[in-house]
Amino acid sequence: MSIVNMKELLEKADKSDYGIGAFSIANMEMIMGVIRAAEELKSPIILQIAEVRLKHSPLNLIGPVMVEAAKKAKVPVAVHLDHGITLDTIKEALDLGFTSVMYDGSHSPLEENIEITNEVIQLAKKYGAAVEAEIGRVGGSEDGSKDIEMLTTSVKDAKRFYEGTKVDALAIAIGNAHGVYKEEPVLQFERLKEIDNEVPIPLVLHGGSGISAEDFRKCIKNGIKKINVATATFNNVVKGVSVLFKEEDSVEYFKYHSKVIESAYENAKKHIEIFGSNNKA
Ligand code: 13P
Repeated sequence: MSIVNMKELLEKADKSDYGIGAFSIANMEMIMGVIRAAEELKSPIILQIAEVRLKHSPLNLIGPVMVEAAKKAKVPVAVHLDHGITLDTIKEALDLGFTSVMYDGSHSPLEENIEITNEVIQLAKKYGAAVEAEIGRVGGSEDGSKDIEMLTTSVKDAKRFYEGTKVDALAIAIGNAHGVYKEEPVLQFERLKEIDNEVPIPLVLHGGSGISAEDFRKCIKNGIKKINVATATFNNVVKGVSVLFKEEDSVEYFKYHSKVIESAYENAKKHIEIFGSNNKA
């Protein structure tokens, strides 16, 4: 089993209509929790970290732990750089053995996004790694520092982008946003279907925290095969740890450590079951 290429995971998911959870992690305990859930449910998964989070978890430290955990896992695990911004960081992740990278050019004009994505694809090819890109713009922001307005992906742009890059996976914006949703998310399923009809590669849903099980399943049925979950994991860890500290006057460090693992495990387990990737390893 062990470390695999994300493209391979997504192609299999595409054939059998299930989704792969891409779980964002911030430390070793979260990595352990997510992998424990995947192994228990016999599910393939993607372990990922976004470039903006590297100020908290430096890539030279967290990267080797992610890669090593994937190599030793009893299920297929892809290791992914989420929302890559700079070519230097993308190259560093590839040098460390990440099996896929995302280049997020969603803030640039379409043709510039295509041009830089193609540079990233050429670089990743040397490592046999897969590439994800984004077209349109997912709302909110990865680290909560800004409230970026969502820009719904246009079918024409998605088609042009795919034809101009032949990228492996494409993140789209259909009403999804990073972070906690201020209101119940209303996903644009018609737009998703139109994009799926024109773009023959697995689509990616960012902003997975707060989307209903029913909507997740509808997304998977209509072309979404990679689903990013970050905030739900972080919040479940905070919640688990807060309850522990409320229940006990003095918490022994390793009890806290185990709670972080357990809370990340619970959240990954819940999502894997919804995405239908259990028993697909
Ligand atoms: P959430 O934090 O909303 O789950 O989004 C995760 C994500 O899309 C990471 O790129």
